[in-house]
Amino acid sequence: MTSESSSQPNADSGKPLLRVLRGEANVPPPLWLMRQAGRYLPEYRALRKQAGSFLELCYNPAMAAEVTLQPVHRFAMDAAILFSDILVVPDALGMDVTFVEGEGPHLTPLANADDIERLRPDRIVEHLAPVFETVERVADGLPDSAALIGFAGAPWTVATYMIEGGSSRDFTATRNWAMSDPQSFQRLIDVLVTATVDYLVAQLRHGAEALQVFDSWAGVLSESEFHRWSVAPMKAIVEGVRAACSEAPIIGFPRGAGVMMLDYVVETGVDGISIDSATPATWAAQALQPHCAVQGNLDPLCLLYGGARMIDEINAILDALAGGPLVFNLGHGILPATPPDHVATLVETVRGLRS
Ligand code: CP3
Repeated sequence: MTSESSSQPNADSGKPLLRVLRGEANVPPPLWLMRQAGRYLPEYRALRKQAGSFLELCYNPAMAAEVTLQPVHRFAMDAAILFSDILVVPDALGMDVTFVEGEGPHLTPLANADDIERLRPDRIVEHLAPVFETVERVADGLPDSAALIGFAGAPWTVATYMIEGGSSRDFTATRNWAMSDPQSFQRLIDVLVTATVDYLVAQLRHGAEALQVFDSWAGVLSESEFHRWSVAPMKAIVEGVRAACSEAPIIGFPRGAGVMMLDYVVETGVDGISIDSATPATWAAQALQPHCAVQGNLDPLCLLYGGARMIDEINAILDALAGGPLVFNLGHGILPATPPDHVATLVETVRGLRS
């Protein structure tokens, strides 16, 4: 394993995740998993049944805090990610958002520029007060070495749900809108930038210590669209958050952006970049890690299957990236059918790395 550029693991008493996001290498690397709270955990499924709808769970601070902490307690993760969803922002903006069992999210789609003017960015902080209470409860219950990550969806990704009315295969309505009427689409993105900055800053003020912004559908954009609809809004978010909370480390996740991730990192000034499983770890070490911490990128399917193949893939990621600032994670969220034992094995394997 490469470890020559790492600093002494315990030279600083700070939390490992925060040290790495400040640019230090930590051996073993801090570890958390996207969607670490969720249906693959029996304790989540039990609590989910009591909560009523998924949004009711997101807005119930006692339950949401408990769900946030479940994987941290079970696996001693180095971070908790707030239990919520990227679609609480359109909900707060006044859209009609529901989650249908087995189908995913449903929204009444935005139809025209007038609908954008009816959105209510002024409601964000008040409507999302229960989420901030969850943040406070998690911050109080968190083990000392674990950090609390707040999050939001990136404007492009959230806009796809607002325009398509739910999940989509090809994002035709959103891409058509952006192409045929870029002015009103820009207006939507601007509303989302403002709402997202307010939402993230409030999470930090209530106890979040780092942030992640999920641009899950960045990968469908062409180069010029990517700069306009993913990079520029993220740059504005980073600037807006830093203007209010200068210390807060921010991780960007422009999923599927490939080599364009280098521009994303340089232009937005993020502290960390979360890479998907299709991104070669050796390329990320060379191209991205000189600029910021890299987070990733085990294939969630590898975790589902486990076994020797998973161990090999974990070691390949560690070999490529653990010599610099690395946050070990998946390339996307945990799949619901994943056996929790495989997560335990992943944690043991990553923690087995010693300088
Ligand atoms: O543990 C964590 O990572 C924190 C919680 C979290 C959830 N959603 C909980 C959730 C986070 C960070 C998200 C982000 C999110 N939500 C994204 C970005 C990340 C990604 O996966 O690309 C997106 C695109 C969404 C939108 C969303 N939420 C969809 C499309 C769905 C339905 C699909 C599905 O997995 O069920 C959700 C529902 C959702 N969000 C669940 C959870 C645990 C499942 C709901 C349930 O328990 O029934």
